Amino acid sequence: MVEHMNGVASELLSRIERCEAKVAVVGLGYVGLPLAHALHQGGLPIIGFDIDQAKIDAINAGRNYLVHLGNELVTTLRDSRRFEGTTDFGRLGEADVIIICVPTPLGKHWEPDISYILNTAQAIGRTLRAGQLVILESTTYPRTTRDDMMPAIMAAAGDRAKSLKVGSEVFGAFSPEREDPGRKSHSTSTIPKLVGGLDATSTELAAAVYRKGVTTVVPVSSAEIAESAKLLENIFRSVNIALVNEMKVVLDAMGIDVWEVVRAAGTKPFGFMPFYPGPGLGGHCIPIDPFYLTWKAREYGHSTRFIELAGEINTSMPHYVIDRTAEALNDHGKPVKGSRILVLGLAYKADIDDVRESPSFELIEICKHRGAQVDYHDPLVPATWAGRKHDLKMSSVAFDAATIASYDCVLISTAHSKVDYALLAKHAKLVIDTRDAMRAFEKELGARLVRA
Ligand SMILES: NC(=O)c1ccc[n+]([C@@H]2O[C@H](COP(=O)([O-])OP(=O)(O)OC[C@H]3O[C@@H](n4cnc5c(N)ncnc54)[C@H](O)[C@@H]3O)[C@@H](O)[C@H]2O)c1
Repeated sequence: MVEHMNGVASELLSRIERCEAKVAVVGLGYVGLPLAHALHQGGLPIIGFDIDQAKIDAINAGRNYLVHLGNELVTTLRDSRRFEGTTDFGRLGEADVIIICVPTPLGKHWEPDISYILNTAQAIGRTLRAGQLVILESTTYPRTTRDDMMPAIMAAAGDRAKSLKVGSEVFGAFSPEREDPGRKSHSTSTIPKLVGGLDATSTELAAAVYRKGVTTVVPVSSAEIAESAKLLENIFRSVNIALVNEMKVVLDAMGIDVWEVVRAAGTKPFGFMPFYPGPGLGGHCIPIDPFYLTWKAREYGHSTRFIELAGEINTSMPHYVIDRTAEALNDHGKPVKGSRILVLGLAYKADIDDVRESPSFELIEICKHRGAQVDYHDPLVPATWAGRKHDLKMSSVAFDAATIASYDCVLISTAHSKVDYALLAKHAKLVIDTRDAMRAFEKELGARLVRA
């Protein structure tokens, strides 16, 4: 028994260490599914919960709906007696450890929408019992674990909550996910994991869980430190991307190649980290998470000027790119209205099929609004579906010589490595490149290449 732990905590700790503690992963998306796999590989028994029956059915059929992670990840789970997927939230009481990986989007007015966390918390509360540890992984503003998640669990537990004290009978922690879909150099098990509990015992218990599936676990002094560190990481990216996007606009106007400038500055061995410009921010995290802090800061009478300025610059990028496109078309004797434009890449970044918050949608909408006829090609996204903001009802067109040549302009929004850029260089009338994908064909393209 660890000295400062009571009987309930030390029993849970030894169950975790012996891989007897059952772990519920709630939300089997980009974060939850690889996490379930990593902890399962570490020997823990897992129950995966999702409200989406189609995801559970896909796992049972051995098909990974997250294509970039491959089918083997789900067949390993499906074929194991230590994994089960379910939509029956009444079974949460079976779990000793519950890890919440549900979405945290923004509402209509850019306010945090933590309703998914609260719904899960209520479901947990209904079957709450002594000896359960709840860990929140969803990105959110500081104090959510302590002030929102735990009280919602306790409120739903009703009278049972009277005999369940946080830190003695039930435990809570925050551990941010640092998933970067498509990155080959790291995986869930090799990315260091921050863990901050509502108290020292909770931190220790949560760290013990992650040590089963993650090589490096970094305990911090509180849930608030872990929540804030995650936001700092994402705000850091958002602000630096905005900075380089601002540089791009200025350098473009001066006829200076921003990509070469970033690469040149990147040779400095200290004090500089390269960030690259693009057509705008995409993905579930960087365009959204910083505004969780903006909202919370107001409660404390502060404004977050860096975050808002970065947001302003980054969200103006699709408009900037289309202005450059219009100029280039004009130089080729074509108005935007009536032009045929092919947007190349719908996913928000290369070599993944994730289109959440992708700037490509914005680019397509703006082009259409200006009267262009727009299509897209993405080898990983065969068709669009209705999202929170956009419902384009489009399908990916072919990518062959005749199709490429039939467009007045091809606008590269995402630089998937599967795309044949040599074919594009040969047949395109005009290429607008927001990703520096055509560097190798610069000479061949000549005035047909415009970086934006
Ligand atoms: N995707 C990333 O790269 C990434 C990286 C770091 C942090 N995050 C954070 O992790 C969290 C989850 O993101 P994601 O990318 O995995 O989202 P996702 O949309 O891929 O997955 C969320 C899953 O939760 C399910 N779900 C929704 N409501 C539920 C509920 N009440 N109960 C159970 N399941 C529910 C959905 O069906 C979906 O399968 C977010 O807070 C996000 O900001 C994501």
